Amino acid sequence: MTARTRTPTRQRVALVTGAGVRVGRAIARDLAASGWRVAAHHFRHRAPPGLLGLRADLAAPDGPEALAAAFRARFDRLDLLVCSASGFEPLPLSRLDAAAFDAQMDLNARAPLLLARALLPLLGRARGSIVNVLDIGGAFVPWKGYAAYVASKAALARATECLALELAPRIRVNGIAPGTVLWPARCPAAMRRALSARIPLGRAGRPADVAQAVRYLADAPYVTGAILPVDGGRRLSGRG
Ligand SMILES: NC(=O)c1ccc[n+]([C@@H]2O[C@H](COP(=O)([O-])OP(=O)(O)OC[C@H]3O[C@@H](n4cnc5c(N)ncnc54)[C@H](OP(=O)(O)O)[C@@H]3O)[C@@H](O)[C@H]2O)c1
Repeated sequence: MTARTRTPTRQRVALVTGAGVRVGRAIARDLAASGWRVAAHHFRHRAPPGLLGLRADLAAPDGPEALAAAFRARFDRLDLLVCSASGFEPLPLSRLDAAAFDAQMDLNARAPLLLARALLPLLGRARGSIVNVLDIGGAFVPWKGYAAYVASKAALARATECLALELAPRIRVNGIAPGTVLWPARCPAAMRRALSARIPLGRAGRPADVAQAVRYLADAPYVTGAILPVDGGRRLSGRG
């Protein structure tokens, strides 16, 4: 059996899902740079260097419990759970079938709930908090051609509020709804320009903007059930 890490009493511990790449990676590295001890969940990518990596397929029904068990084997406290792992599939209705819909819901909505359940005792003991990474699509606005993805993020947004009620007062539960903070790799330059023109602040954000919001929510003792948009105002300007 793996020896558990005894963390100094003042060093807080965070588990970040999807921490191998892009936004999740930025969140994990930012927390580590701010003094947190960070467990970095990853799946196809590797964990960032210097952080303890925990690999799991969170779309599988038993994936969240497996990740929680691996975490519990190594850590004796959990102060912050950040659920950032997610699938992002443009899926017009003509191509939507049961498997494609379930795939989005399983990873984006079910996995954060099952992970929270599995880690509840550790979070409760530490009076910790949960931050679910949502999207303005689903949390605030609809998007044409993304019904399954938007439905999964809407489900997680409402579930975030339900858990905030259910787990108070010991555990706070909040969400962050980014706008564009990192373009999909294959997004054409013309589309980037067109989308940027619709953002009131005139530009896309950065993963660091989301990481900063995570730190704010982790340290906001009177904030629970909040869905914080980090979108340069994009949700206000019409279609997604
Ligand atoms: N990028 C943006 O501008 C933006 C905008 C709005 C909202 N968001 C939200 O921010 C979060 C991160 O966005 P992103 O753009 O960095 O995401 P991304 O590039 O699509 O990365 C997806 C993440 O999910 C993980 N993942 C995928 N399938 C998995 C599975 N079956 N089991 C476990 N993990 C799995 C990936 O891990 P591996 O790569 O290790 O497999 C990766 O870390 C997401 O929740 C997304 O909805 C992002």
